[in-house]
Amino acid sequence: MKRTQIDIEAVLAQLSLDEKVALLAGIDGWHTKAIPRLGVPSIRLSDGPNGVRGTRFFNGVPAACLPCETALGATFDQDLVRELGQLLGQECKAKGAHVLLGPTINIQRGPLGGRGFESFSEDPVLSGTLAASYCEGVQAEDIIPTPKHLVCNDQEHERVAVNSIVTDRALREIYLLPFQIALGRARPGALMTSYNKVNGTHASEDPRLLRDIVRREWGFDGLIMSDWFGTYSVSEALNAGLDLEMPGMSHFRGPCLIHAITSNKVKEHVVDERVRSVLRLVQLAARAQIPEMAPEVQRNLPATSALLRRAASESVVLLKNEDHILPLSPAKTTLVIGPNANIAAYCGGGSAALPAYYTTTPLEGIRNKAAALSSSLSPPRDLVTFTQGAYGHKELPLLGEQLRAPEDGRVGYTFRVYTESKEQNPARVAVDTLHMTSSSAFLMDYVHPEVKGDLYYITMDGNFTPAETGDYEFGLTVAGTGLLYVDGELVVDNKTNQRQGTSFFGIGTPEERGVIHLTAGQTYAVHVDYGTAPTSTLKVKNVVSFGPGGVRVGGARRIEPAQAVEEAVRLASDTASFDQVVVCVGLNSDWESEGFDRPHMDLPAGSDALVHRVLAARADAVVVVQSGTPVTMPWAPQTKALLQAWYGGNEAGNGIADVLFGDVNPAAKLPLSFPVTLAQNPSYLNYRSEGGRVLYGEDVYVGYRYYDSIGVQPLFRFGHGLSYTSFAASGLAVTVVDTPAIKAASLTLVLTVANTGDRAGAEVLQVYVAPPPTTTAVRRPVRELKAFHKVPLLQPGESRAVALPPISLALATSYWDENRDAWLSEAGAYTVHVVGTGAGNTVSQTFAVHASRWWTGLLGDVSGSTTNGHA
Ligand code: BGC
Repeated sequence: MKRTQIDIEAVLAQLSLDEKVALLAGIDGWHTKAIPRLGVPSIRLSDGPNGVRGTRFFNGVPAACLPCETALGATFDQDLVRELGQLLGQECKAKGAHVLLGPTINIQRGPLGGRGFESFSEDPVLSGTLAASYCEGVQAEDIIPTPKHLVCNDQEHERVAVNSIVTDRALREIYLLPFQIALGRARPGALMTSYNKVNGTHASEDPRLLRDIVRREWGFDGLIMSDWFGTYSVSEALNAGLDLEMPGMSHFRGPCLIHAITSNKVKEHVVDERVRSVLRLVQLAARAQIPEMAPEVQRNLPATSALLRRAASESVVLLKNEDHILPLSPAKTTLVIGPNANIAAYCGGGSAALPAYYTTTPLEGIRNKAAALSSSLSPPRDLVTFTQGAYGHKELPLLGEQLRAPEDGRVGYTFRVYTESKEQNPARVAVDTLHMTSSSAFLMDYVHPEVKGDLYYITMDGNFTPAETGDYEFGLTVAGTGLLYVDGELVVDNKTNQRQGTSFFGIGTPEERGVIHLTAGQTYAVHVDYGTAPTSTLKVKNVVSFGPGGVRVGGARRIEPAQAVEEAVRLASDTASFDQVVVCVGLNSDWESEGFDRPHMDLPAGSDALVHRVLAARADAVVVVQSGTPVTMPWAPQTKALLQAWYGGNEAGNGIADVLFGDVNPAAKLPLSFPVTLAQNPSYLNYRSEGGRVLYGEDVYVGYRYYDSIGVQPLFRFGHGLSYTSFAASGLAVTVVDTPAIKAASLTLVLTVANTGDRAGAEVLQVYVAPPPTTTAVRRPVRELKAFHKVPLLQPGESRAVALPPISLALATSYWDENRDAWLSEAGAYTVHVVGTGAGNTVSQTFAVHASRWWTGLLGDVSGSTTNGHA
């Protein structure tokens, strides 16, 4: 493999101190410093994790959007995740990025985390194993993945300030384990630290974490970067082991660092260590042969769509299916109801968000299924009918695509940038004019030669022609100040009396709204006047300031909620007209986003009432929930057929329809437990920053470890998921392949899996290990997931012998022994439970560990996987 010509030690010897310091921070949002005289290029980094956005939050180049990570967690499919990782590697090349900022492998301690959708699972083995596959896929394209955020960034509330107080045992067994597994198997070339403190010290300047655990104990020799604006010190961060401060312009690594070096607070040889890490990254990045500052392009290929559709459909979890209501028939008439049916909830919000090549709504997916048949009928008629039932948005739907540019009628609007306000200069002339479709503009990385600094002004102009007469609501959300006019009339004022909200990563206002009556068919001029963040009247205390701020414009026709429900119930009751009914509810990126946690676990107001009423009228209605993390489902006992879908990426709508109509037989399992109520979850009393800290009071009993241990049934347990067929597992044989070194020892499992139903289907096997019942020193969870395996499609009646890849004996048996600061594989009799789909489909076997052994370090890969990124 071709490497760059840079000789790290030779470059280091020739660097001036200023150059060394400059290499230790970004130069902008997404690039490292180049030293052309020594042949050191600039490296591009890009978010992650569910797509590659490239270098622009603002008006970015569209990209492939994968299902969110909880959706990928639900697939329990390492091969699929590896393939998707490879797709991300290819997408990185299209965006000129050498480093991908993902996967996210924090842990969903509870259901409310604003970024919960971004991590795979509440279980560290599922999370770490899928993260390793993700990294291997990315690395297959010679791109460098960046597992993030190390560690305990499991909530958004006061995320840069909060002190996560966690026992060593929980830190090791739950929160660090995903990183340990991913690093052991895939050896990624980079890591990102978290914003928060862990037990009193910010992760980005914690020598125990970065130096003692990551570098010394795990032997990590890749690069450690801070999260964006998550470096908080000069000397402490550098001495602890933080190589790269992101983004630029640097706060800490200019003259301040030179000062620290000259005053001997930081030794030059320590600076050299950090520079070596950056140069190693540069060297590793060269493998991808991506030119420096490459242009960003799209690669929207049919093969990409096919893979994304597979991922979307294979992530949908069948939670209930009484009376075999599912799958539906495309030949029958279908009524589709609900707030999530006609919108594309394709990804969560924040830095994971990106403009997708295209999106599909559940309604489109369902219509696509019926399309061929509808047009072949004589006379042709639409077999699918939609009624709204309720709205589910928190902020009004984006207005951009509902507008037409005044100049040429194209979908979208005209965006103009000025360096002066209208008041300063009524004759001002725009320095930049763009045609845009998205009416959410986050300006952090907007650049224009005439725009200097963060203070500038923007106008947005588009024509709106309503299809129906009625009251229309418009909304304006800003980090800055804004006014919205319709035909010259001020409809929304977000300039006087501004309120603090959570928008734009926590620095902006809530959405301010105004209502105006409009007439169908008439064209209205919508005009927005916006001033960037420095014009804001809010006193925002937030280290993550993201410069010039942003503006978001929304709009929708007002509906009368009671009438909308009545209409849905009326149609659903009409069994003569509609053979089958699908209700689509859920959340979207307004509700689940980086920057804030959800205040409660409920669906948006009106959704529960809609589902209750429709189910009362129509017991066989199928309910589809789209969310990245659990929601309360008070109507769940009323349902007969229930699907959990997620933010499914470009192909979300088609993926849901594939499962609804049986083109894909679901095999997915929940990667998170869904509690009945929020109060039932183990983090309930400790899930926000109070007095600057959050206590990880549930200790190692996260998610199912808690429900199992106290013998309480959540609404749906981790690992739950049905199929349209049935399976039986039998003949489990467990062999211990022991070796003197515990880390090389393994467990091998062989069993037979049979498809006992009448449809082809894939089966997911979950391997749990229960500790010895006589274990002495510590209480342990009843059983813990230690491996999983997806058995590819089995035909009806087919039976197959399955040999699982070897499982590390150390991983399968150990807990963290706080007395010895080491993992302990305790002697005793353990039980393996292999859990398949369907009640009672579990086979068990015991095995013995004869001697207690302690160990530390990475586990490596006992299954012999060969992809090795950072060799
Ligand atoms: C997020 C990171 C992300 C970075 C760059 C931060 O706000 O926490 O996950 O990679 O921004 O967008």
